[in-house]
Amino acid sequence: MKKQVKEKKLSQSDLILYLHASAAFQLLNAGVELKLFELLHQKKTQTVPDIANALKLKLQSARCLVFGLVALRLIKNVNNLYQNGSIIERLFNEGEWKLFKSMVLLQSNIMYIGQIDFVKSLQQSRNVGLQRFAGTGNTLYQRLGQSPKLQKIFKDFMEVYSEFANPHLLRHVNFSQDHFVLDVGGGSGTNAIALAKHYPNSSVILLDLPGVASVAKKKIEQHGLSDKIKFYPADMFKQQFPKNQDCVLLIHQLVIWSSEGNIILLRKAYESLKKNGRVIIFNSIADDSENGPLMAALDTVYFRSIAAGNGMIYPWKDYEKWLHKIGFKRVERIRCKSWTPHGIIVGYK
Ligand SMILES: C[S@@+](CC[C@H](N)C(=O)[O-])C[C@H]1O[C@@H](n2cnc3c(N)ncnc32)[C@H](O)[C@@H]1O
Repeated sequence: MKKQVKEKKLSQSDLILYLHASAAFQLLNAGVELKLFELLHQKKTQTVPDIANALKLKLQSARCLVFGLVALRLIKNVNNLYQNGSIIERLFNEGEWKLFKSMVLLQSNIMYIGQIDFVKSLQQSRNVGLQRFAGTGNTLYQRLGQSPKLQKIFKDFMEVYSEFANPHLLRHVNFSQDHFVLDVGGGSGTNAIALAKHYPNSSVILLDLPGVASVAKKKIEQHGLSDKIKFYPADMFKQQFPKNQDCVLLIHQLVIWSSEGNIILLRKAYESLKKNGRVIIFNSIADDSENGPLMAALDTVYFRSIAAGNGMIYPWKDYEKWLHKIGFKRVERIRCKSWTPHGIIVGYK
């Protein structure tokens, strides 16, 4: 008998929010960029004239801004005194404001620019939105190295995102037997640095594009880890992976590429591992039903329109299928308790 699926109905106001999603985001972005949320966090309550004064806005502009933010429930109006909504205060109190702010900046400077071409990207099965970013190369990552402003926005986001996420990885996975670790597409080294600090017996090879080298090397040096973490400039699809690894990390990586691309990378990981070595995949993962989570579904638009054009937030079952096909003996799923859809998949050689 077919299982009855109860419809979780969309309300009219949800529909209005989708219709005006761009306006909702612009209000949120204004609250972040003009530092209204920070002001309300510090001062607790403010009147509209206080806000206008602090944000250097005309009274009427401040009135329009708070009108929108109250309607979105991001701030509250209690007898004409404005306060942050509880979800915004929670971000401040739980130390997640920096992450949220960098996510907003990424949306406004990258997602909003290239996602305009989502329809064309679907029709042409490629990242048409990339044309809106200067430089050469078929992926955003190749172009970042050619634009210092964009590279900084992306790097700042990636660093705080990984700092937020990697404690889950370190909590769930024991790396004490992993003396040689290869971090594929390791970026500026946030995860490699966290790992090397927790496990001083591990050495990490950080493989990434040559354009990332100077930023990564500087950061590794600042942490005094230049003897433990070596930068390996390479294109992960074109060059060989170093051999005899205990562990290969693919962090926030396999969401970027097609199934075929991921099979190539996982096969290269398999070949670079010692017997009994492990590959560890850590990124957002969708439910096997492909009905959510919402953040995974929405993030997929960036991977189709801008990043490389043929990735997505894949479900668990896809990773398991690829790993088994390549010959990994055993595959383990580890769910992370987070508001982001992070999950860990371990493949044992
Ligand atoms: C989403 S970021 C993840 C960075 C890091 N793993 C983290 O979690 O913080 C993807 C990384 O893959 C790198 N990358 C993209 N294409 C690559 C390629 N063809 N070869 C090597 N690295 C690549 C990018 O430069 C970027 O640092």
